[in-house]
Amino acid sequence: MNRVTKLLGIKYPIISAAMSWVTSAKFVAAVSNAGGMGVLGPNAGQNNSARSLDEFVENVRSEIRKVRELTDRPFAVNYILPFDANGTSSFTNALFDVLVEENVKIVVVIGVIMHRNEIEKLKKHGFTVIYRPINPTVQNLIEAETAGVDALIVTGNEAGGHISQYEISLFTLVPQATDSLKIPVIAAGGVIDGRGVKAVMDLGAEGVYMGTRFVATHENPASDAAKQAILQVTSDEFLRLEGVNERTIPTIGGKRAFQLIKEGKHDEAGTYIKNGFKTGLLDGNLEVGTISISPSAGGIKEIKTCKQVIDEIVNAIS
Ligand SMILES: Cc1cc2nc3c(=O)[nH]c(=O)nc-3n(C[C@H](O)[C@H](O)[C@H](O)COP(=O)(O)O)c2cc1C
Repeated sequence: MNRVTKLLGIKYPIISAAMSWVTSAKFVAAVSNAGGMGVLGPNAGQNNSARSLDEFVENVRSEIRKVRELTDRPFAVNYILPFDANGTSSFTNALFDVLVEENVKIVVVIGVIMHRNEIEKLKKHGFTVIYRPINPTVQNLIEAETAGVDALIVTGNEAGGHISQYEISLFTLVPQATDSLKIPVIAAGGVIDGRGVKAVMDLGAEGVYMGTRFVATHENPASDAAKQAILQVTSDEFLRLEGVNERTIPTIGGKRAFQLIKEGKHDEAGTYIKNGFKTGLLDGNLEVGTISISPSAGGIKEIKTCKQVIDEIVNAIS
């Protein structure tokens, strides 16, 4: 037991990351049933983008209800703050309403900019709030703590998905964060096994938030082609897509995105990569799509069940 397991009501402080297109009720429930905590990400359980706000809301509602059919353990939903400083977002507001209606208890909030009013609103309605700054620094982590969040996810630049604009590794950030904060820190980025979890806990983290390792599980909705690419890639092969803050496995689609960046076509590459998340990872079309994950994939040699991943970590750290 530590502050994270107590806060969330879970057995082990191991959380599967919110990942666009590659989470689902089945996957989230598998992580929660294994004693960790699953998080429904954007587009969870879907194969197509919602065509309207209403459809988006019903998709989220239906996936939350499916999780509850599969587990009675705690789970969370990803909550995306508006991207501009003064803005509100109809998407964020709709998400808030459905989470209240469905009595969701825990949210993993992400943002480029901290919106204190959103945090206050979530806390007022009784949510447990875990906050993950997309571009974490010691300063913005402290700012989030003063806004009243319950725990912070500290993401190192070696993470998968959209990465921080700052070149700060997990090894650098976690000790500085834990020295400066009173609330618990959960480490994210490049952690794939018990050795990694042990290391971040030695640095002061009280939990781990893992994306890439959990993509390569049987229950994850990612395509078989993407999972095989993860097993085969080595860490030195990754392409760094400067200007759009992504890294990708060098599939044909990945190489094309890299070329666009080299030609200075960042906007075009950005659109390409946004589509690539779904096309590559979920649909398995590696000619067009990208596979944006952490270079730690070089150490992943086997597709496992979520329970195996969690049990092996627990055995290694206990
Ligand atoms: C394919 C993919 C998609 C992601 N999409 C999201 C997202 O939609 N929301 C979010 O909060 N984080 C997203 N992330 C980041 C993860 O939440 C997490 O911070 C990251 O996976 C941790 O690093 P790791 O992959 O090395 O374990 C994504 C990560 C991956 C690999």
